Amino acid sequence: MRRLAIAAVVAQIGIAVTGSVVRVTGSGLGCPTWPQCFPGSLVPVAHPETLPLHQWVEFGNRILAIVLVVVSAACFLAALGARPRRRRLLWLAAAMPLGVVAQAVIGGLTVLAGLVWWSVMPHFLASIVLVWLAVELVAEARDRAPTRPVVPRAVRALVIVSTVALGALLVAGTLVTAAGPHAGDAATPRLGIGVPALAQLHADLLFGYLGLVVGLGFALWATGATPRLRRRYGVLVLVVLLQGALGGIQYALGVPEALVSLHVLGAALVTAAAAAVWTATRTPVAAAPDAAPDAAPDTSTGTRAADPAGAPTGAGTADAASASRPLADAATGRDEP
Ligand code: HEM
Repeated sequence: MRRLAIAAVVAQIGIAVTGSVVRVTGSGLGCPTWPQCFPGSLVPVAHPETLPLHQWVEFGNRILAIVLVVVSAACFLAALGARPRRRRLLWLAAAMPLGVVAQAVIGGLTVLAGLVWWSVMPHFLASIVLVWLAVELVAEARDRAPTRPVVPRAVRALVIVSTVALGALLVAGTLVTAAGPHAGDAATPRLGIGVPALAQLHADLLFGYLGLVVGLGFALWATGATPRLRRRYGVLVLVVLLQGALGGIQYALGVPEALVSLHVLGAALVTAAAAAVWTATRTPVAAAPDAAPDAAPDTSTGTRAADPAGAPTGAGTADAASASRPLADAATGRDEP
């Protein structure tokens, strides 16, 4: 199940990127028919009116879409077969095929709306939400038990606030695209706000987000985060900095197509890294002796399984928490990536 969930993360990120490559290269009609690429051929063939690049880009996007459908369905079937049956695992797994259906509908409406910017935005943002949910699915498949927080409530609140800030940053990014040259073909109506003003807003939101991420780092350091959480935080900082630098470079260079798609990949990776940090703030109850002193059990897993190891199910004392930290570190941080 966990491997399938990881495949779902990769496929969700992949489809967001190949979708952007189709958009920035204008390859939407590279394969004018479905399911055949050209009448009589499932794969691209030399054609005087279509560039090979457009054909292969659109064909690659279709192949990845098929992979995503298969992986999504497999995730759901595996969750259905998991014993004991877990409600949260089922919902997260169901979100994969449901997301594919929703994206097909949104994509169809986007085409009907003539690729106008306000229809393209939800198409991209839905992909980002699915990346997040796929990462949650990986965690749920790993934990296989009710979870409890391993950080104090204040730190959890900071993670939530920074996630909201990331959401605003991502939405602002789609607004920059909506006003810029890659929002569709030349005839597609653009968002009527200047690109420099929107890019400034986008960059300002990045600085706000970075501030929250730095604050989170201090909070994790001060409260003794688990090794897993520390590692994931480090990855998040790295991808945010790389993505920020890439954003600045692509803006300075006049948004060349290749960098725009790389920026979409970066946005998906930042989302996945942030979701990985989010999921690392919880741990299965069995491995929770180092749960934060003010942490309450997380009942969101919807599982009724009994406490497997007789671990404390209520809030522990600070002494108990610190005395058991090495044990918990071993249980929560060194076993898995
Ligand atoms: C962690 C930091 C960042 C994230 C997560 C992020 C995310 C995004 C997203 C999601 C989009 C929309 C992609 C699309 O709709 O296809 C976007 C577009 C854009 N971003 Fe960023 N961005 C970041 C940093 C920056 C920075 C620092 C700049 C510099 C000003 C920048 C410049 C741009 C530009 C110019 C576009 C429009 C590209 C186009 O024409 O399609 N980004 N960004």
